[in-house]
Amino acid sequence: MKLGVFDSGLGGLLITKAIQEALPDLDILYLGDTLHLPYGNRSEEAIYAYTLRCIDYLFQQDCKLVVIACNTASASALRKIQQGYLIKHYPDRRVLGVVVPTIEAAIDAGFERLGLIGTNYTINSNVYEYELQKINSAVKIFQVSTPLLVPLIEYDGFAYIDSVLERYLEPLCDHNIQSLILSCTHYSCLKERIAKRYNFSVISQDEIIPAKLSNYLERHPEISERLDRNAQARYMVTDLTHNYIQAAHALYGASIALEKVDIG
Ligand code: DGL
Repeated sequence: MKLGVFDSGLGGLLITKAIQEALPDLDILYLGDTLHLPYGNRSEEAIYAYTLRCIDYLFQQDCKLVVIACNTASASALRKIQQGYLIKHYPDRRVLGVVVPTIEAAIDAGFERLGLIGTNYTINSNVYEYELQKINSAVKIFQVSTPLLVPLIEYDGFAYIDSVLERYLEPLCDHNIQSLILSCTHYSCLKERIAKRYNFSVISQDEIIPAKLSNYLERHPEISERLDRNAQARYMVTDLTHNYIQAAHALYGASIALEKVDIG
């Protein structure tokens, strides 16, 4: 059986690459729902329905464990899938999200004033604040939604990104944050750019999730032992255009074969 990695689009390739570096022998099936990207401006019902269809497809393709790399999907659908759908339909499979592991990493690093940027849905859902309160209510989090960043990244708009970031990050600078959580798969490709220009550190999920996943697999040998380890990967998308091929290359840092699949 395989490890699945799911994202609304191609940003999850950054986390996939980091997982491959940390766990090079694992077989991985990547699925990006490019047909419905971006999720971040959609309703909870739509995000849940799209996410569920993709997770179901990955299970049909023999995934034992799926990482929902997409923050928007994690915010909207993870709990419902874990607490309802899995128990009913796939009691022996597991789905992991990215929100709680990211908060744990920020707390472990000792930060007390955090900034957070993400899609409209992720920020408006308040999921980070909610989960943070459960773990350590003394830590403050200041949030800004940054909906223009994904299109600028997907459509090679890097020439415009610094001025857009400046506008978005201004209120967070006013709050004297110590670290900024990049709560969107795509934003990992901005981490150096942000770290260079601002006096706070950056928490990027491609640096967190692989270690959290390794730790999870160590704690769950019953799952780990079922995963195929032939260093194989497939990169599937629900819609394929020339632009997606270019974006995949730019985000992954090497050319990979994107495969269009019909998930029904
Ligand atoms: N992948 C999404 C996330 O991590 C961002 C892109 C989208 O809006 O679908 O939140």
